[in-house]
Amino acid sequence: MAKSPGGGAGRQSIHDLKVRVKTARNRKHSSTIWLERQLNDPYVARAKAEGYKSRAAFKLIELNEKHHLLHPGNRVIDLGAAPGGWSQVAARETGSRESNPLVVGIDYIDMDPVPGVILLKQDFTEESAPANLIAALGGHKADLVMSDMAWPTTGHRPTDHLRIVSLVEIAADFAVQVLAPGGSFIAKVFQGGTEHELLAMLKRSFATTFHAKPPSSRKDSAETYLVAKGFRGDNRVIGGGD
Ligand SMILES: C[S@@+](CC[C@H](N)C(=O)[O-])C[C@H]1O[C@@H](n2cnc3c(N)ncnc32)[C@H](O)[C@@H]1O
Repeated sequence: MAKSPGGGAGRQSIHDLKVRVKTARNRKHSSTIWLERQLNDPYVARAKAEGYKSRAAFKLIELNEKHHLLHPGNRVIDLGAAPGGWSQVAARETGSRESNPLVVGIDYIDMDPVPGVILLKQDFTEESAPANLIAALGGHKADLVMSDMAWPTTGHRPTDHLRIVSLVEIAADFAVQVLAPGGSFIAKVFQGGTEHELLAMLKRSFATTFHAKPPSSRKDSAETYLVAKGFRGDNRVIGGGD
């Protein structure tokens, strides 16, 4: 059972939830469906009850329960951290404190503070972002680089696919530069071809690589997570061609 980060108001029975949303005249049908799904989503209810900033927190909790990615004392970099659910989970599992911060997050949107976490407001694809992250981690190598980043979708599927793939490649490239030997990398990807090339590249740098879809990731979403464990310690640019 997941532990609560902030001492939530107690568990609500998810079976009691069944909210129907009337279609308001000014609301699009798709928005009504989204709202109805949010209101009936047991993970949304659990996130609220247990004090998590996002339902996404459960994806990391489930990935960690199954694949043992977070350990006390680990240093963690959280790419695309807002609103902060993954950072909360990472801070709790590593024991990150304000006096000894072990978790650094980055996002280009504003975020409320997450106790024990250093948060940078910047686009990760900007040239100075990697150096800023490493500096925030006190120059230490990281044990886990995790990316839940996704660009806002354009609605044009091939464009959206290419955009997410390029984000993941940049994140993977960063990971192999900052990870300590034995470290791990996880990143949100979408099923659809190109990420298998990235997987092949990662296989050279990590002992094990695989895809994992945690139960809290919506079944109707193409989202899945790339997991690479056991970094071999060769801090080089994987996309650089060798
Ligand atoms: C799904 S949300 C992350 C949720 C987060 N894991 C949590 O548990 O709260 C994806 C985030 O990635 C951020 N993002 C997307 N592209 C980014 C980029 N290039 N640089 C920084 N953040 C980015 C978005 O602003 C968004 O907040």
